[in-house]
Amino acid sequence: MRDYMNVTILEHPLASHLITELRQKETRPDRFRHITRQLTVLLALEATKNIETAAVRVETPLEPTVGHKISQGIAVVPILRAGLGMSESIASLFPDVSVGYIGLERDEQTAVASSYYCKLPKLEGKAILCVDPMLATGGSASQALALIKRHGGRAITLVSVVAAPEGIDCVEKHHPDVNLVVGALDRGLNDKRYILPGLGDFGDRLYGTL
Ligand code: PRP
Ligand code: URA
Repeated sequence: MRDYMNVTILEHPLASHLITELRQKETRPDRFRHITRQLTVLLALEATKNIETAAVRVETPLEPTVGHKISQGIAVVPILRAGLGMSESIASLFPDVSVGYIGLERDEQTAVASSYYCKLPKLEGKAILCVDPMLATGGSASQALALIKRHGGRAITLVSVVAAPEGIDCVEKHHPDVNLVVGALDRGLNDKRYILPGLGDFGDRLYGTL
C-alpha cells in the first residue's frame, strides 16, 4: 500500500466489524444508520485526539486534584445528505459543538458534484470535522473543504467511512493541509465512479431510497 502523508486508517477490530456489516447488501436502513453512528464515534475519537484541553482543579469526594477539560470548540460539517448519518453522534459526544451544512450532489452520469446549500457557523479557532462517509473521486470533499476554508476554517479533518485511493489523491493534491481519518481504504473506482468493493450508495442505503 502507498504511504499517504496525512491519512489515518482506523485499525480496530470493532471498526472492521462494523464496516463489514455496512458492506453487506442485506443490511437494512435502520441497522445501517445505527452502525454508522457507532462507527462515527470511533472515527471521531481518532480525529479529535489532538484537540486542545486545559488543566482544571477539581475536588473529588476524597481530595483536590488536577483534571483536563476540552477547551476548544468543535465544528462538525456534514456533506449532505449522507454526512447527516454521522454528524449527530459527534454533536452529542462533545461539549461545545456547532454544526454547519454543505449540500453537494454528484451528477449520475459525470460524477461531478454540484453545490445546492451552504450554511456554516463561525469557524475561527475551532477544530473542524468535515464528515462524508464516502470519499470516491474526492470531488465533493474538495469542494466542501474549499468552502470551509473560504469561511475561515483552518484546522480541518475530513472523516470518511470508506475511501478510494483516487479520492485521497484528489484531497491531498488540493488540500495538503487537511488531515484525513478513514475507516477503510478500498481498491478503486468502477466506471460509474463507485468505490470497489465499497458498500454501494451510502445515502440510499442510509435513507432507504434505493
Ligand atoms: C455521495 C457521498 C459523497 C460523494 C462522494 O454523495 O456521500 O458526498 O457521493 O463522491 P465523490 O468523492 O466522487 O465526490 P451523493 O452525491 O451520492 O449525494 P447524497 O449524499 O445526497 O446521496
Ligand atoms: N458515493 C457513494 O455513496 N458510494 C460510492 O461508492 C461512491 C460515491
